[in-house]
Amino acid sequence: MIWLLNDVIDERAIKTLSHNWVDDRFHCGSDSNPNLTNKRSFALDYEDANHDMMCQLLYDQIKPKIASDFVIKCVGQPYFSWYKPGCFYDKHLDAFPITGLCPHFSFTVFLNDPEEYEGGELTITVGNTERSFKPKAGSMVLYSTGLWHQVNKVTGGVGRKVAIGWAESFIANSAMRQHVIDLKHAINEIADDIPEESLKKLESVRVNIIREYATL
Ligand SMILES: [Fe+2]
Repeated sequence: MIWLLNDVIDERAIKTLSHNWVDDRFHCGSDSNPNLTNKRSFALDYEDANHDMMCQLLYDQIKPKIASDFVIKCVGQPYFSWYKPGCFYDKHLDAFPITGLCPHFSFTVFLNDPEEYEGGELTITVGNTERSFKPKAGSMVLYSTGLWHQVNKVTGGVGRKVAIGWAESFIANSAMRQHVIDLKHAINEIADDIPEESLKKLESVRVNIIREYATL
């Protein structure tokens, strides 16, 4: 499954997280591993003076937006990834485990607007179809980690600036996880139109399903 979530980070966070992307703060993955032929991109150095602050700011912004709706147990450390012109990531599956967790969701948070670079779409394969995403800054594409995906080559502009990461759900069973997510979204849609008591009953059903299927 794939979800496109708009405005998961606010304007102030977009500015802070996309500020001062200059060559000497980033290293190329291919430099340390010349055998990597399926990928070329640049990652913010872990030792960068602002790295930890940026990770914390991203956590603080995205966790409230996804934790409840997607039954998230933990979010792994994100990577700030810069796809300069010529960068790409061929079609692949994400590893297991990754960033210390069992990933149920992969996500990309877009830190600059699509007009700032050419190419660079995130393309995800579902069944025999493909969906491409190049949303506005502040958006997140959240998708099931088992899906094949790629980043199309960036062909111009200032490059594609993103934060990527993974999240683990309390519900390991993929079918039940999907049902609970759908239930939550349905509750959100009708929350303003039904009596408070009815809303509480629906929410208690959702929580009891989670209690039945969750693993800590
Ligand atoms: Fe990936």
